[in-house]
Amino acid sequence: MIRIQNKILTCLAALALLAAATAYAGESADEIKQRIGSGNPVAGKTMSSLCQGCHGELGVSLDELIPSLAGQYASYISTQLRSYQSGARTHQIMNAMAMTINDAELANIAAFFASQKKMQGNGSGDNPVAKNLFLKGDAKRGIPSCTSCHGTNGKGKAPNIPTYPVIGGQHKGYLSVQLTHLRNSERSDSQGGVMNKIAKSLTDAEIEALSVYLSGL
Ligand code: HEC
Ligand code: HEC
Repeated sequence: MIRIQNKILTCLAALALLAAATAYAGESADEIKQRIGSGNPVAGKTMSSLCQGCHGELGVSLDELIPSLAGQYASYISTQLRSYQSGARTHQIMNAMAMTINDAELANIAAFFASQKKMQGNGSGDNPVAKNLFLKGDAKRGIPSCTSCHGTNGKGKAPNIPTYPVIGGQHKGYLSVQLTHLRNSERSDSQGGVMNKIAKSLTDAEIEALSVYLSGL
């Protein structure tokens, strides 16, 4: 019985992937599949109803301080949840949330959000300070271009390197909080503290400019 159910779910997942692949211009079915990983997005849809209450039904949240998860790498979502669980990343609500789900549920939930159309800004955040940092970085301060890790328009680095989250089209308020926390190492769970080093010398004005710019992409 369980085996049949699993077969049906796998079948539905394949159909969902197919639908997703035709719906999202610019991304191949293979790229979307890689982003989703090993979880089952169809099962994850039901399991994530609580998460959807804050992160949005399709992973696009309506609150500036709640990150969108639509089109985010499944593996990044899972890693962050485990960081909240271990306390490496702290946030009262998310620390509590992370305690309640096991690995199998998490893979499916992450797959569901990853299978959604990638978060998308409205293009209104263009400004020279941020654009310059984003595309060129600042060698004098040891800041590489953001695109070198986060990819063109911050939509992820091809071919799908899930260590580097999608940041283009993310909420401005959330981005600004994260960059500030990364700057003062309140959040310091990235491998080798790479984002801490990058954010360390950013000024308040640059963080504001980057957050506006990134949210528009
Ligand atoms: C009550 C609201 C709420 C609920 C319910 C909730 N979240 Fe969150 N989530 C947040 C907030 C707020 C943040 C930002 C926390 C921070 O600043 O670190 C967040 C952050 C995250 C992040 C980090 C995203 C990133 O880009 O780094 C992930 C992943 C995440 N949540 C997944 C989930 C999952 C999966 C569930 C369901 C099990 C869930 N959340 C339930 C409010 C919520
Ligand atoms: C050398 C690679 C690298 C470069 C260059 C880089 N980042 Fe990151 N960034 C990362 C990694 C890795 C993470 C994930 C951190 C984690 O796992 O907690 C990250 C996370 C982030 C986050 C948090 C996203 C979220 O959803 O919570 C923001 C915002 C961000 N980077 C902005 C930037 C900006 C702006 C620049 C350019 C000034 C930049 N990054 C350059 C590697 C990089």
